[in-house]
Amino acid sequence: MTTDFFALNGRVVPAAEATISVLDLGFLRGVGAFETLRTYGGHPHALGDHLRRLWESAAAFGIAPFFSEADVRRLLAEIRTRSGHAELRANFVVSPGEHTTGVFGAGAPTWVIIARDVHAPPESFYEQGVTAVTFDATRHLPTLKTTNYLVGKTGLALAEKAGAHEAFYVTAEGYVTEGVTSNVLIVQGKRLMTPVVDCLPGITKGGVRPLAEAAGLVWYECNLTRDDLYTADEVWITSAVRELMPVVAVDGKRIHDGRVGPWAKRLRADYRAHCIAEALRDAQRAGMV
Ligand SMILES: Cc1ncc(COP(=O)(O)O)c(C=O)c1O
Repeated sequence: MTTDFFALNGRVVPAAEATISVLDLGFLRGVGAFETLRTYGGHPHALGDHLRRLWESAAAFGIAPFFSEADVRRLLAEIRTRSGHAELRANFVVSPGEHTTGVFGAGAPTWVIIARDVHAPPESFYEQGVTAVTFDATRHLPTLKTTNYLVGKTGLALAEKAGAHEAFYVTAEGYVTEGVTSNVLIVQGKRLMTPVVDCLPGITKGGVRPLAEAAGLVWYECNLTRDDLYTADEVWITSAVRELMPVVAVDGKRIHDGRVGPWAKRLRADYRAHCIAEALRDAQRAGMV
């Protein structure tokens, strides 16, 4: 059996020892920001982008950057060596730290890196596609990655009931914005369309864009309705661990012929190859290899 190792405030410890105070504002008031990424060949992918977004989210509650990319690379390398996991899925979580005075007063911020075996989704999800449902809700501070996912719980409960993998938020205006833990894109002919309002600026989605354009798709940032999804040639979700995953039915309605489309197959392969190369190049630049 392998033991997991996490990093607590910059120090790698066995997972069981990675504990924080009951006074932490992340616990008391639900104030926190986080990021999830995975490694390829043991090297974190798009670490710079994830840290940039982490600091953007943390700025919403007054936390300025206080650790570096080099710190994270060093900690992840140590975690990998000590845990023996070949590939990691890493969650970085930052909170204001222990409560001191008033409502939100705190001392030094808390940060943890929860890094476990990557547990990538099964290949069957990519070969056969997954299904999704929609639900009427908007995420709080949707352009940021805060730890408040309470609204998404309703959607995931609906998804679970329907045996679906993901739930898409739909705004009061009727626009599909994103999944509970992913971005959404559709292909219609040669058009690749994705919302950019009221959703997280996904790093995976951003990485897919130039590859899709190089493959001949034309990128459109626009509002999407439920009907746009139902009548699309292909529906995809993207996220750091799932990469690009095809969705073959939404709300019980089959997308096109209900099979994984050719663009999804091609772009997922292109994206995977791109991640492997980019993670290695970044690690070389950082002097880790
Ligand atoms: C709400 C939400 N939207 C989109 C994404 C996808 O973002 P990324 O591709 O940067 O992982 C995530 C990832 O967890 C998410 O939680």
